[in-house]
Amino acid sequence: MPVKNVEAISVNDDRAECGPLSQRLHELAVSLDQYLRFEHPDAMSRYSDWHAVLAQALPERGVGIERVLAELGQQVIANGSQIPNPGCTAFITTGATSVGVLASLAGSVAAPQRLGLTAFNYLEELSLEWLAEMFELPSAMKGLYSSGGSVANLVALGAARQWAFERIGIDPSRDGVTRPCRIYATAASHHTVHRAAAVLGMGRNAVVTIGSDQQGRMCTAALRAQLQADLQRGEENNKAVLPVAIVANAGTTNAGVIDPLSDMAALAEEFSIWFHVDGAYGLPGILDPRVRPLYDGLAKADSVIVDPHKWLGAPVGIGATFVRDRSLLNRAFTQEASDYLEGSVIDENIQHSMDSLGIPYYDFGVELSAPSRGAVVWALIREIGKEGMRERVCRHNAMARHVAERAQVHPNLELLQEPTLSICCFRYIADSSVAECDLNDLNTKIHRQLVQQGRSIPSTAVINGRLAIRPCFVGARTCWQHAEQLLEDVIAAGNALVKG
Ligand SMILES: Cc1ncc(COP(=O)(O)O)c(C=O)c1O
Repeated sequence: MPVKNVEAISVNDDRAECGPLSQRLHELAVSLDQYLRFEHPDAMSRYSDWHAVLAQALPERGVGIERVLAELGQQVIANGSQIPNPGCTAFITTGATSVGVLASLAGSVAAPQRLGLTAFNYLEELSLEWLAEMFELPSAMKGLYSSGGSVANLVALGAARQWAFERIGIDPSRDGVTRPCRIYATAASHHTVHRAAAVLGMGRNAVVTIGSDQQGRMCTAALRAQLQADLQRGEENNKAVLPVAIVANAGTTNAGVIDPLSDMAALAEEFSIWFHVDGAYGLPGILDPRVRPLYDGLAKADSVIVDPHKWLGAPVGIGATFVRDRSLLNRAFTQEASDYLEGSVIDENIQHSMDSLGIPYYDFGVELSAPSRGAVVWALIREIGKEGMRERVCRHNAMARHVAERAQVHPNLELLQEPTLSICCFRYIADSSVAECDLNDLNTKIHRQLVQQGRSIPSTAVINGRLAIRPCFVGARTCWQHAEQLLEDVIAAGNALVKG
């Protein structure tokens, strides 16, 4: 093969454009702005159009960036998700706010990893500290970002598992799970708790469902009874189960319920069990003075999670776990030494950002490569401050209460559960022409109709056997008019269906 001269070698002949971004970003921004007007029809109504353009065989030759950007704008973005639509209250995931999108883009260009002694690596830790302070976690608690609440719960329960087994002289990360485990949670706990138990080798059946009251809060008398029974069984037959964690919800997914944190923390202390609080959705609720007392006991948690990609308005892919002792995470999740990761030790001779990998987040969780999420959270908090966050949380909680009040006085609405945070579960009821047993069906139809209209898109939830219309107000774009609109849309759809 002929050897190229140096001049020829120095010219990049890669087919991918890697040059200046401003023009390209402008083109993309035009399409995104168009999308953000939320005037486009739903993606499924144009399925055959975009499918015909996008369903291509693997291209042997590329089409070039211009064509890709055109397809991205006209076919992909224009047929994107309803989630950022301010009338969409179905998911707890939100549409990202502008600064979150921009900081995420900045990270993907300037810091493809969180490693190294860069400003991005610094912001990883700083923003975790800000989150902990804003949500009143003890200052000793240290954090770790991951892709979202699922992994955040997994990391927290990994720390709990490590702690529980180390106390009986076993290293579960090295030797595996050698005893049947127990995790205590209510039926309303997120299913990712069960999955985490499975992934961590404890098995889904390790999660014991503890009864709850009418509101869905854990019944602490039932928890005490279960803990005592497990303890006694172990003493009797020498095959004790190992209690690994008590899991509390600070905002359930279905209804936004907060478990009795203080009482649960006291039981965790009495029985020497790890106390985990899943605040993926609801931890920011602590900023609302009206519900602040419900968070008493949070400071006693051994681990807490929160998802910045929910109420904080971060782009999806950001969850955070906080633990009292990050060295536990290290023992639970370390990758062991490897040659190419050497250099992660910080010493005084550092002169270059590559002289150290910075804080070894890759040894505290399950990801080695990961985006710089800290810069995104830093940007979100820096833009609006704690005050802006408090305003958003209070506004959304007030909207849920408003929907509840309207549901209580309107003859065709019924409140199914008093809201705690920003979720309200209510339903349409008709006069005696519709029997109780048909109301679930009627509300399912109302919900289907709302989704198809595309203006108000709540989800549904089942509350004590009754199908509820369930808006969850968390998106930064979602405000009072959307709560009003939802009420009007539910009543109009219900009336039309009943009249037939
Ligand atoms: C309380 C709770 N925990 C955990 C999760 C899982 O979070 P993610 O979807 O970010 O993985 C959710 C998701 O809605 C949740 O509501």
